Amino acid sequence: MDRPPGVPGLFISFEGNEGCGKSTQVVLVSEALTRMGHQVRAVREPGSTAIGEKIRTLFKNPPQNCSLSAWTEVFMLSAARHQLVTEVILPALRNGEIVISDRFVDSTLAYQGIIKSLPRDALQYVCNIATQTLQPARTYLFKAPVKLLMERVMARGQTQAHGTDRFDQAGIQEMENLEAAFDQIASENPVRIRVMDATQSKEELCQFLTEDILRCLKKI
Ligand SMILES: Nc1ncnc2c1ncn2[C@@H]1O[C@H](COP(=O)(O)OP(=O)(O)OP(=O)(O)O)[C@@H](O)[C@H]1O
Ligand SMILES: [Mg+2]
Repeated sequence: MDRPPGVPGLFISFEGNEGCGKSTQVVLVSEALTRMGHQVRAVREPGSTAIGEKIRTLFKNPPQNCSLSAWTEVFMLSAARHQLVTEVILPALRNGEIVISDRFVDSTLAYQGIIKSLPRDALQYVCNIATQTLQPARTYLFKAPVKLLMERVMARGQTQAHGTDRFDQAGIQEMENLEAAFDQIASENPVRIRVMDATQSKEELCQFLTEDILRCLKKI
């Protein structure tokens, strides 16, 4: 278990394709652990600092006719990440808290690294600066068939400000490619990354995750 020396907290990240249930589980698992008396800090990427949330808005809604280059995306995400690690995650970990992050570096390696073909060494170098080389002790990668994920995102789209009309052939292909990219990252990090069957119910997933995080807490 990769826990930085002198840092008593536990750092966890949730990763996976759109609609796989990361944000749902961040809320459920945080609530469950809090009920058990643990101090939990839930964060999301990009975001969870004042500047990070501004970067998130810009990242998700760039000015019209402005196509972000892959490196611009990396630098925006990295700026938000460095601030998040410095201002929130490291202080919380030093305070002995459990930090759960909705996405972290693996998302950048998948989207900008593998999908957008940025050179891995240079990308990893920038990511290491952004994280101050902090790594999650455990990462849960949520996996489900793309068809199911699309159904969930479309159902969610009726109540949230997400588009429901973008699952054309290119959109499906993009999600398939992302699945493959996350699979590659999981196979490169078999100890840190645990692959979760995201077709399970929210309650089943929450129970497993909570118990597994408690097991991680015991392993120093
Ligand atoms: N285990 C589950 N079973 C059924 N539906 C689920 C499950 N987990 C989440 N959902 C539903 O699927 C939709 C997408 O979930 P959620 O927003 O948590 O995904 P996400 O991984 O955070 O997506 P994004 O990457 O777009 O932020 C939501 O409407 C949520 O209620
Ligand atoms: Mg989410």
